[in-house]
Amino acid sequence: MTLLAPDDALLARLAERLGPRGFTTDPADMEPWLTDWRGRVHGKAAALLSPASTAQVVDIVRMAADARVAIVPQGGNSSMVAGATPSASGTALLLSLRRMRAIRSISEQDGVAVAEAGVVLSDLHDAAAAIGRRFPLSLGAKGTATIGGLVSTNAGGVQVLRFGTMRSLLLGIEAVLPDGALFDGISALRKDNRGYDLRQLFAGAEGTLGIVTAASLRLYPAAAQRAVAWIGLATPHDALALLRRLERATGDAIESFEIVPDDGLALVLRHIPGVRAPLGQPHAWHVLVEATAPEGGLDPRDALERVLGDAIESGLIEDATIAAGEGQAEALWKLRESMSEAERIDGIAAKHDVSVPVSLMPDFLRSARDEVEEAFPGARVLAFGHLGDGNVHFNVRPPLAAENAAWLAEHGAAVSMLVHDLATASGGSISAEHGIGQTKLAEFARTADPARLAALRAIKAALDPLGIMNPGKLVPLAPDAQGQ
Ligand code: MLT
Ligand code: ZN
Repeated sequence: MTLLAPDDALLARLAERLGPRGFTTDPADMEPWLTDWRGRVHGKAAALLSPASTAQVVDIVRMAADARVAIVPQGGNSSMVAGATPSASGTALLLSLRRMRAIRSISEQDGVAVAEAGVVLSDLHDAAAAIGRRFPLSLGAKGTATIGGLVSTNAGGVQVLRFGTMRSLLLGIEAVLPDGALFDGISALRKDNRGYDLRQLFAGAEGTLGIVTAASLRLYPAAAQRAVAWIGLATPHDALALLRRLERATGDAIESFEIVPDDGLALVLRHIPGVRAPLGQPHAWHVLVEATAPEGGLDPRDALERVLGDAIESGLIEDATIAAGEGQAEALWKLRESMSEAERIDGIAAKHDVSVPVSLMPDFLRSARDEVEEAFPGARVLAFGHLGDGNVHFNVRPPLAAENAAWLAEHGAAVSMLVHDLATASGGSISAEHGIGQTKLAEFARTADPARLAALRAIKAALDPLGIMNPGKLVPLAPDAQGQ
């Protein structure tokens, strides 16, 4: 299906419908939104549309569908896989949801917030805290990532261990379908068996099936007590053994279990202002753990102290510190959450977001590092992330002496193929939490089984037969259309 560029008449109608705050073709206004967060993918757009309401989104989509013009939805533009960056053709309409930032309702009684797509994650955190609740999904980009993007990528983050990814917090959805029809599934029913779960179809669809305009989200009671610890240890195997000990001792109190290698921590200490080393000595690996408890529950700090004390005594871990208060807890979290930013400042790398069964992750980390270092002498592996979920960002930096861009241009694709093949061979995924977007598209098409690809294509073709929704993302082209 051929997509067309918007003609002047369509642009004029859009401008009229959206008004000056909602429509621009000024290159200076569009420029910040045409490059992905990592600065690797640059696109162009015919116009930047910023609707203020669902009704305006409906009208935009109707007009675009009539004219066969592509729409690229965008939230905070913090995609790790360039999922919200338009192609270089310049014919698509870039549709920002950032003006739709109302929290339509939030209920302590129901434990539900209805948030529009452009609500920034940290604003939802604050709104939930104000009523004694919390929305337990968090990630480094919480100050920019928006609800629509988080739903559309089925975002993960640092609390998946206990609360799951975005889809497990999603109770309802409002979305505009590719023909402009409004799907109103926003009511947060706990039980609803009327056929296929359309709400969940939009979680992780990356804007390829329509535009999420609002979501009903599950809120949990605020945690009355929390404890955060930073631990130095020798291997990921030891880290996983520690996680199991913590779980045995605390039940489901452990919310986060994040791993950072020593050279990763060194990057954060070098590039991020105002941080300092949490432990006196270097350690090959570091773990950040967070445990919480309700009012009157087992004090998570006591539990951490006991388990970590025993673990030091038995030689399982080398050192640990438990944050004395909120300030210190935030400082420890900053070390972990700045990993990505520190890496970005340091220079480009081949980035991966792989998952394998949790029990296999320590072996994967060792063997994949060995294989990469053998195949690409001098390459520097930097793997960090969500060990408790079996998901790490297994990034590979060029050799010290190499010119980064040139080395990656020559070896980047082969590095990624090797990492992805190793993850797949362990029963894993090449995209655990970042999605496919543009940057993982070829690898997804190469590694996914044919049944999965065929089902995805069938769903896409059924809901978006014109192919106007975020073209060139997530859904690989059919084999006979490859290369077009
Ligand atoms: C993280 O875990 O820090 C994020 O997923 C970001 C990243 O992979 O760089
Ligand atoms: Zn991550």
